[in-house]
Amino acid sequence: MNDVKPDSSTKQTVTLTDNSTGKSIELPILGGTVGPRAIDVRRLYAETGCFTYDPGFTSTASCDSAITYIDGEVGILMHRGYMIEDLAEHSDFMDVCYLLLHGELPKKDEKAAFERSITYHTMLHEQMNYFYRGFRRDSHPMAIMVGVVGAMSAFYHDSTDISDPHQRMVASHRLIAKMPTIAAMAYKFSVGQPFVYPRNDLSYAENFLYMTFSVPCEEYKVSPVLARAMDRIFILHADHEQNASTSTVRISGSSNANPFACIAAGCASLWGPAHGGANEAVLQMLQEIGTKDRIPEFVERAKDRDDPFRLMGFGHRVYKNYDPRAKVMQKSCHEVLGELGINDPLLEMAMELERLALQDEYFIEKKLFPNVDFYSGIILKAMGFPTSMFTVLFALARTVGWVAQWREMIEDPSQRISRPRQLYNGQTKRDYVPLDQR
Ligand code: SDX
Repeated sequence: MNDVKPDSSTKQTVTLTDNSTGKSIELPILGGTVGPRAIDVRRLYAETGCFTYDPGFTSTASCDSAITYIDGEVGILMHRGYMIEDLAEHSDFMDVCYLLLHGELPKKDEKAAFERSITYHTMLHEQMNYFYRGFRRDSHPMAIMVGVVGAMSAFYHDSTDISDPHQRMVASHRLIAKMPTIAAMAYKFSVGQPFVYPRNDLSYAENFLYMTFSVPCEEYKVSPVLARAMDRIFILHADHEQNASTSTVRISGSSNANPFACIAAGCASLWGPAHGGANEAVLQMLQEIGTKDRIPEFVERAKDRDDPFRLMGFGHRVYKNYDPRAKVMQKSCHEVLGELGINDPLLEMAMELERLALQDEYFIEKKLFPNVDFYSGIILKAMGFPTSMFTVLFALARTVGWVAQWREMIEDPSQRISRPRQLYNGQTKRDYVPLDQR
């Protein structure tokens, strides 16, 4: 773990000296409950006329938060203090949703009330079905998610007064409850099958599998193995500190925008192959590699700075050790494929790729380990999902994290609109040149 709160008797400040002017400024260092401290630079521009410069936010804390803690050096992920391994082992996704939203694991009655509220918000307004018809049949399901989730902002005017705690809670429950329905409908639309209504007698994960894979022509029994694996995959993707899509939701929400529109923005950011789109890209990469004997060729390509090819599912901005979710996902992968009696050569290939990469100097030196996306695609493929649905499942699960982080931001009394500055390197002032003189 990074240093916990430093000794309060020592002075928690830094002194910055501009060597071009000799002028110094003393800035406070802020400490959280655990993890890196932060230099409070809020006065920097006013007192020095300088900005900080950190384009990828590699050294920037954009907010303070109590929801999720990651220690990338050690490979730790905690939600409200609970280790992800414990939550994946002992909790279900509804537990984790309640924990992320309220800060504590629910007691029995709290969990029953929460599950009932989610269950009774799973149906979509019937008119929303018509949005799907506007898409081409071959639309990527993530394009449909961005469109339909955004369209929810047109439907729920009774829960968009975000200054009202009750309406914030209703919007939160609606989003968590309706994402599986929207996702399943995106899948059904893409395969030309009728939409399936949710059932109130099924759990969250069971309901999603039922709405996705059942057809009106025959009874569909939800496999308890697949339901447990689905629920665990949702847990592993629920929240992850200030990643790109969560930061997108926070920044769009900082203008007090409609919460449904903010979550649509999160879907758009997550779709990128460098972020949540990586699970789909991992499967495509494994299929491109084709056979184990071609793995060294692709590992070499990934190391070549002149070759844009990267090993999808490897590397992470924060984890410079194993992503703890990848370990749980790998275990789940073996369980699901074992239970289903599937001997997927892609899993063999993934394990060989992992073995070779982890012993390669380049990956060791750059601390590139498998991330959450490396194994998830293999499980999802075994469960019957097409690769185009992989990121949809990530967005479905991450909705609770986006919503929890959005609510934390809105409820923070010091919250202001996010408006970063820039280092300008464009043209300096110049006289206008009329058309006939250009
Ligand atoms: C997710 O932020 C989160 O928390 C995200 C996430 C979440 O739950 O929200 O964890 C989910 O997005 C996981 C990441 C999924 N993406 C991928 O698997 C795509 C492949 N990985 C890379 O694109 C990359 O590792 C990132 C985007 C994940 C991280 O990018 P960074 O932090 O900007 O690091 P970088 O690209 O600067 O890489 C550092 C070095 C570079 O070499 P140099 O330029 O210093 O010589 O490592 C190299 C990179 O070229 N490198 C890789 C590599 N990833 C980084 N080389 C080969 N293969 C890779 N996968």
